[in-house]
Amino acid sequence: MSALTEDHGLQIRPISKYIGAEVTGVDLTQPIDEGTRQALRNALVENIAIVIPDQHFTPQQFAVAAELFGDLMPDQIKSNLVKDFPMVSILSNLEKDSNGKQAKVPKNATWHTDHTNKELPPNFTFLYAVEMPEQGGGTSVVNMNAAYEALPAEKRAEIDKMKTANVRISSARLTTANRDVLAEQVEMGDPPVIHPLVRTHPERGTKAIWFHTGKTEHIEGMNAPESQEFLANLLEESVKPEFSYTHNWTVGDMLVVDNRSAMHKAGSDYDMSQHRMLYRTMVCGDRPY
Ligand SMILES: [Fe+2]
Repeated sequence: MSALTEDHGLQIRPISKYIGAEVTGVDLTQPIDEGTRQALRNALVENIAIVIPDQHFTPQQFAVAAELFGDLMPDQIKSNLVKDFPMVSILSNLEKDSNGKQAKVPKNATWHTDHTNKELPPNFTFLYAVEMPEQGGGTSVVNMNAAYEALPAEKRAEIDKMKTANVRISSARLTTANRDVLAEQVEMGDPPVIHPLVRTHPERGTKAIWFHTGKTEHIEGMNAPESQEFLANLLEESVKPEFSYTHNWTVGDMLVVDNRSAMHKAGSDYDMSQHRMLYRTMVCGDRPY
């Protein structure tokens, strides 16, 4: 872990050994010059995730802040978009599907990366804390490049060759899925999108394990249950506690994750009668390789 650095008036302080830095000295509701924009982006790619505390965003200001990192990508879940700002969605533990079922929270409490069923999954995911329970409900991020590197060489060689077939909701999640999303999937009938299980970061040149169990229908050459078991074992074998960081939210924090090096999960360790609400947006990415 390196010490505090300064870049274009930003203070960048690493918050754990393998992932995450806190970036202060910037108000993203104000105009940002090109040098500062580049410094923010560099801090993100270098540290894999950044926390920018003490921001005071409307949904539109949040979207404008995220746009400093690239073009915004629409969320495929259309039911929880902010009214009048469709590029921003609301993640809330009180959100229900049309059957009145609260389905979002437990599903996202496992390591995943966003929108893997898209040919061009998002480079970056942005979360902004609007309301938080008194305790718990943190969001965790994990350095999947470190996880990959921690594996024995033979295992790395084995997974380097693997490909995942990605759908909106994998058969492993059929029983717990949001019924509305499931109906959409059947209606759209999109073919699975094939991605590498290990992706190369185009800027860092590093490799990272990269998948979403809820969207991986299978690994090529394995059936669905075998694939789920393989992925669960892979996480068990590769993710060491020190590779991850859990951000315990303060309202006003923005967390940005470089999905090309990290996976993330939401914490479900809080009093569910209290409201946990974040804004989310994403920035477009390239085809993983
Ligand atoms: Fe996510």
